[in-house]
Amino acid sequence: MTQRETENLTPEMTPKSAMNHDIGKGRGVYISTYGCQMNVNDSERMYSLLEMVNFAPVSTLEEASIIIINSCSIREKAVHKVYSEVGTFQKLKKKNPELLIGVGGCVGQQEKEKLMKNHPLIDFVFGTDAIDELPEILNKVLTKTTKDKVVSAQFKHKQPYHVDTLVRNPGVSTFVNITKGCDNFCSFCVVPFTRGREKSRPVSHIMTDIHTLVARGVKEVTLLGQNVNSYEGDAGFDFADLLKKVAVETGVERLRYTTSHPKDFNEKLMHVIRDHQDKICEYVHLPFQSGNTRILEKMNRGYTREEYVEKINLIKKLIPGAVFSTDIIVGFPGETEAEFQDTVSLVEEIGFETIFAFKYSPRPNTKAALMPDHLEESVKSERLNRLFDVHEKMAFERVKIYEGQTLQVLVEKLESGGGKLSGRTPTNKIVYFEGPGSLIGQTVPVKITRAMPSVFRGEVAIQ
Ligand code: 5AD
Ligand code: SF4
Repeated sequence: MTQRETENLTPEMTPKSAMNHDIGKGRGVYISTYGCQMNVNDSERMYSLLEMVNFAPVSTLEEASIIIINSCSIREKAVHKVYSEVGTFQKLKKKNPELLIGVGGCVGQQEKEKLMKNHPLIDFVFGTDAIDELPEILNKVLTKTTKDKVVSAQFKHKQPYHVDTLVRNPGVSTFVNITKGCDNFCSFCVVPFTRGREKSRPVSHIMTDIHTLVARGVKEVTLLGQNVNSYEGDAGFDFADLLKKVAVETGVERLRYTTSHPKDFNEKLMHVIRDHQDKICEYVHLPFQSGNTRILEKMNRGYTREEYVEKINLIKKLIPGAVFSTDIIVGFPGETEAEFQDTVSLVEEIGFETIFAFKYSPRPNTKAALMPDHLEESVKSERLNRLFDVHEKMAFERVKIYEGQTLQVLVEKLESGGGKLSGRTPTNKIVYFEGPGSLIGQTVPVKITRAMPSVFRGEVAIQ
């Protein structure tokens, strides 16, 4: 770990002094990450914590003494993936009997001991509240202070959410956690069970982290939480206040946030975004999940189709140039063809340029899993394909308006092989264009020559 990186750590999250700080010496750690940005951030945190006790991050499984799967359980398929991935480690473990295999993240939280019962190859399991214990867990496993394999997956409901952002190489754009957990209990969603009750980080911690990241060269920050709109600082300080404070008081050039819940996306927030549009991107990701009010009610989403449309119209009115994306679930239990058509028509009515759509997947502990009239997989697949077809046709047409326009692109990286740069517009479109690596980190005007729904091609505009 470099000096600059250790400067970003406070004593609060330093691994407990009782442990052997050389426990990782000569040992490589490989983390295999699935799922949302929250998991990606958690993996960064794990690497950083393990580097503090001298484990070395490695880039191939063969070099690793420890393999951790940081997993996602939002849909069933993701959980199956963990089991099949662990199976592929059998050969590695035969070659190297000292190899340790751990499972963390949401699957660790959800499956706990079951994972080890079902898979003897697994040596340790830890939950979403146990990430900071990882050095101690590995200390226990490696020094064999316990005969048992280690499971640490208790929620720490009473502990405040005090962590520091630990990113090894933050690059141009990075994510900063502001809340964790969720109290919304949408009836289909496992997150309240895998991430626990909602907690907000103190404002001062978030601000310190962002100042530090900006000093390390970060230009764009995305404030991250399961439901950012319900952020609660001290004395009524809410998400709109936080967004404004970060925009005004830090040197960050671009500010994003994810994920928003339609019921909590209020007018105050819209005004803050409009008033600070020089920094806060006009890209609004607002998951609607279903376009039918009866299904929304069964989903426990807290809004009707009409209320959602009203909110979008207000955003369009108050935030010039706002571009929308959304999450959608098709085939919720009992969804009729006509109710599915309401989802299709809402996609068309709002004119989403990007959608993230999924087949409903029953999850443990959730109310929807116990509802009657689950649909056949074939029906869900067929509906999903139809939705994608309608959206694709519409989105290809819509984005044509960008061809010939000059957009401001924050350059993020040089693509491997082709000498092409890539970056994003404030509306979150990825743009590929030719140019020197020296442009990385700069905001460059790019004339769009080809526009597809989420990827554009262009050339640097002469100013
Ligand atoms: N089945 C299918 N999709 C789901 N999502 C959440 N839970 C489920 C589930 N049980 C989707 C929602 C959410 C996104 C992150 O994942 O659309 O917004
Ligand atoms: Fe899940 Fe709903 Fe919370 Fe989003 S708001 S994490 S969908 S329970």
